[in-house]
Parts: sequence; structure tokens; C-alpha cells
Amino acid sequence: MSHDTSPEPRTKESGGFLGHIFGHRAHANPGHETHPGSSAKSTLDLGDIQGLILRGYRMPMVRHFLLTVKTPAAARQLLGRLVNGDESDAPQITTAEDWHVGFAPGPGDNPADLPRRKPDYCLNVSVTWPGLVALEIKDRVPALSFKSFGAFVAGAAARGSLVGDTGASAPQNWIGAFGTGTDHVLVTLHAMSPDAMKTYSDRLSALFSQGNAFQEIWRTDGMALMQIVDGKPVLTSKVPFGYTDGISMTTIRSGPERYTQDHQEPCEPWLFLLQDEAENYFVPEPRELGLNGSFAVFKMIETDVVGFENFLQSNKDKIDPELLAAKLCGRWRNGVPLALSPETDSPPGGIPLEQLNNFEYVNADGSGDPRGLRCPVGAHMRRVNPRGQPITGQSQAGGSNNTHRLIRRGLPYGPAYDPTQPYDGIERGILGYFINSSIENQYEFVLGHWVNDSEFAGAVRLNPKAKDPMIGTQDPYESIFAIPQANGAPPIKITGFSSFIKTKAAAYCFLPSITAIKFISNLG
Ligand code: HEM
Repeated sequence: MSHDTSPEPRTKESGGFLGHIFGHRAHANPGHETHPGSSAKSTLDLGDIQGLILRGYRMPMVRHFLLTVKTPAAARQLLGRLVNGDESDAPQITTAEDWHVGFAPGPGDNPADLPRRKPDYCLNVSVTWPGLVALEIKDRVPALSFKSFGAFVAGAAARGSLVGDTGASAPQNWIGAFGTGTDHVLVTLHAMSPDAMKTYSDRLSALFSQGNAFQEIWRTDGMALMQIVDGKPVLTSKVPFGYTDGISMTTIRSGPERYTQDHQEPCEPWLFLLQDEAENYFVPEPRELGLNGSFAVFKMIETDVVGFENFLQSNKDKIDPELLAAKLCGRWRNGVPLALSPETDSPPGGIPLEQLNNFEYVNADGSGDPRGLRCPVGAHMRRVNPRGQPITGQSQAGGSNNTHRLIRRGLPYGPAYDPTQPYDGIERGILGYFINSSIENQYEFVLGHWVNDSEFAGAVRLNPKAKDPMIGTQDPYESIFAIPQANGAPPIKITGFSSFIKTKAAAYCFLPSITAIKFISNLG
């Protein structure tokens, strides 16, 4: 992943961009996401908010544990130990505070000092509605109310058809206990190294069954993809299909993280944190349980990489395979956005790292790329975040579509695709969380109305059968991706392709605040 458009050279410098992403160094180059103690003073109660909502941990490894409640009282107690501040008793849930607060400083660390290194692990916990019931919160808290959050209460399986989880992706085909009602609690452990992963994973496994609190019913691992550079394995921020990810980040007004410029209005905190200022929901009751919480859709998505590569090659008579890959996503596979460089992934002079997300599709005066000659209106990125593009429901050019924004926290699973072994039969994909305050108005809206439908594009008439070519649920008899051409030339029409992804598991989860977890553990 290199951002000066000359692919890969940066990977040689372990202290370079990748060192910055996955390295232990907490301080990074200016203008990009950092964890300096000096981060702009956020007005949000960072110590009460689970870290992954507001921060990208940029750790190369993750393990997700799915637990079912066995003994409710013991399970509630155990959750309380994950926020009691005593690392020696149990690994502690990571908050959104700067690194060095809340973690036992390493030997010789002076807590007052600016952090010199990231912690070895980060821990977070989320609960499904059946989990809240199994923890007896519904029984013990008569005032309990999630009235604005019907999707969360109904669950991912019941809502699958709204987001394209049909056919091979249908809930009855999901793995483990997902969607069965015994999928109660997801524990997510990020780690900097295999040693740290083993250490903290073993500690957690031992804890889960204490007092017969929980039973672990499934686990899976994600890991940043490796690439061999000069004979040495190097971590990348590539995702399956060969794209560079982790460039478009969602800036939250008065959040703790600063991202590179992106022409977009910062998002209001209530879009990702349950806050009283919200415009389209009431904070769940009681407030101790609801405030500063959030919702996350956990998803495990399998990717048909060989199918995707064959698809690119099978259309090379119509369009260069790498250009097609770029048109499908909205970025060339090295991360360069079509909006800034429609002809090549290596524009002369390159594009600086901090400019890779600094583009707009349609400016307030209607200029830019309204017809999608640079980046197709139907491309993945332009569907999932149309930025200033006028769309159904928001017809102002250059306007904001922030009410449907998402925060993505994921990592690939399975090894990097090896084109010399196309049919190695190894499953690959992405797993992680899509974070939002309203699952209905953000996650479901994006997948239901923008990814799997084409009415969204307002004045730009897309083929009504057209869906997101990369992640849409396709019927090969109807699938179509039209690539507009300049000078009145007819669009290049790509048809007959199937879905390139399959949902393997999904869960609608509540990310309780630290106060909420203490509230749950004090329910006796
Ligand atoms: C295997 C499945 C997927 C792959 C390979 C994929 C790949 C990508 C890539 C390469 C980018 C551009 C990188 C960046 O700008 O940071 C991107 C952006 C994005 N994707 Fe996906 N994606 C997948 C599934 C999804 C799903 C299921 C959703 C939402 C429900 C989603 C939402 C987004 C969003 C919101 C952006 C940022 C767009 C922006 O802010 O401009 N993606 N995705």
C-alpha cells in the first residue's frame, strides 16, 4: 500500500507508512490519524466510550469470540471485571481515551509522559438483543427501552432480506450460532503480535467459563494481509480483490482522531454515539445503559477472489482489467482515487498520502463529475458514500449525506490471494464491524437503498437492475454495470456477472459504554 502512487516502495521502510499503521510508534506523520497525547481536546466523555467506536486501533491481528450466556449472574459479574481497572484481574476493555490512560504503563513508563508505544492489545465487547435478554437485563430493568432501535431488537437474521443477505448469503446458511438466538456476546481482541494474541486470548478463554458464566461457541481470526517485498513478508492494508483500504475515514466532530482532508463535513457525534442531541432516535432507557453506547453490525464476508480476477480478465476485450477494477471500486487498486486520477494509478508526480481522500464527486456549483465519467455513479465507494452527489432525498449538489455514514473497523481473514494458485480452495474475506447509531438509517439504508438498488442516484438514471458491482447481491441474468464514456460515446456495459461476496455470519450488536457495563454488573 503506497500513497505516492509508485506501488510498494514504501513497504521497504518498516518505519514508513506501514510502520506508522501497524508499528508500535504511537506518533505518526502529521495530518494523518494519530494518538498524540496532544489530540484536540474532545468534548466527548472518551473514558466512558468503547475505543473502537472513535478510534482505528491499527493493529494487525484480531480475534472475535462468540459467547452464549450460561449463568446470567456470573456472566454479568464477569463483564464487570473487564471494566474494574485492574489489569492483573482481567484484561480491560479499551476506551476512546489516549493510549496511556487506562493501561498499566509498561515497566519504566511514566504515565504522565506522552505515550511512546501502543498497548499490546485492545479489547471490546458487544451484546445482541438475545444477549441482553439472556443476561436478564430485560427482567431486572423494567424501564428497559430500545424503542428507537427495532432493527437491533429484531436482529440481523430477521432483517437479512433488507440488506441483500439472501440466497447463498441467507441467514439459514450462516455459520455457527449466528442468527439462532444463542449468539449473545461478541468479544473482540485486537493484538500487536502473535504473542500478545496468545497471552490475552488464553486469559480471556479462562475467564469466560469461570463460574460457568459463558460458553464460547465460536471464534475466528483476522489478520492484515502480508506481501513479500525483497524477499521479506510485509504487512499491508490490502483487502481481498487486491484493493488498498483504510483511506476513507469518517471524521466525527470533536472526536479524538484527525484524518486527512476529505472535502466532507465532519459527522455529528450522535450519528455514532447514543447522545441526547440525536435527531432520529431517543437514547435507550435507562440512560446509564444507553448513553455513550453505539450499535455495530458484525459481519463476516467471504470473497470470491478467483471469480473476481477471472471476471476482470473476461472483459479485457471491452476494458483494461485494472481500469475495470478501479471503475468497480472508485479507487485504483493502489489506492489512487478515480476522482483525482481517472486515467492512471500513477499520475505524474504522484499524489501525496494526505490527499488520497481529498476529493468530491459533485461540487456545490454542480461541477466536478456529475455524470460519473471519472468515477462511475454506480461504483462501490460512490454508492456507499455519495459525498456531495445529489441523490434521492438529498438533491443539493455539494450537500452532505452524513446521516447515512458508517464507520468501518475490519480486517481480512485468510491469506493473500496467490494468482499462481488460483484454485487453492482457501476461504478469504473480510470480517469486522460497521458502526452507527441507527442500524436502520445507516447500515440497512446503505445496503438496502444504495448498494442493492439504483433509484438512489437522483438525476443520474442508472439501469434499474444495476447494483453495487463489487458487493451487490447479483442475479447473473440481470446484473449490469454501465461505465459512462466521454464525448457521447456509448457506455461500456458489463453484464452476466454473479455476486463476488457471500455473507457467512452477521449480528446486530449493542456496544455498551463503560458506565453501562458497570450498570449491568451491578444488577446483582
Ligand atoms: C468484501 C467486501 C468489501 C470490500 C472488498 C470493500 C472494499 C472497499 C474499498 C477498497 C474501499 C475504498 C478504500 C477507502 O476509501 O478507504 C471501500 C470503501 C468503503 N466501503 Fe467497502 N468494501 C466491502 C464491503 C463493504 C460493505 C458491506 C460496506 C457497507 C455496508 C462498505 C462500505 C464502505 C464505505 C462506507 C467506504 C468508504 C467510502 C468513502 O468514504 O468514500 N464496504 N470499500
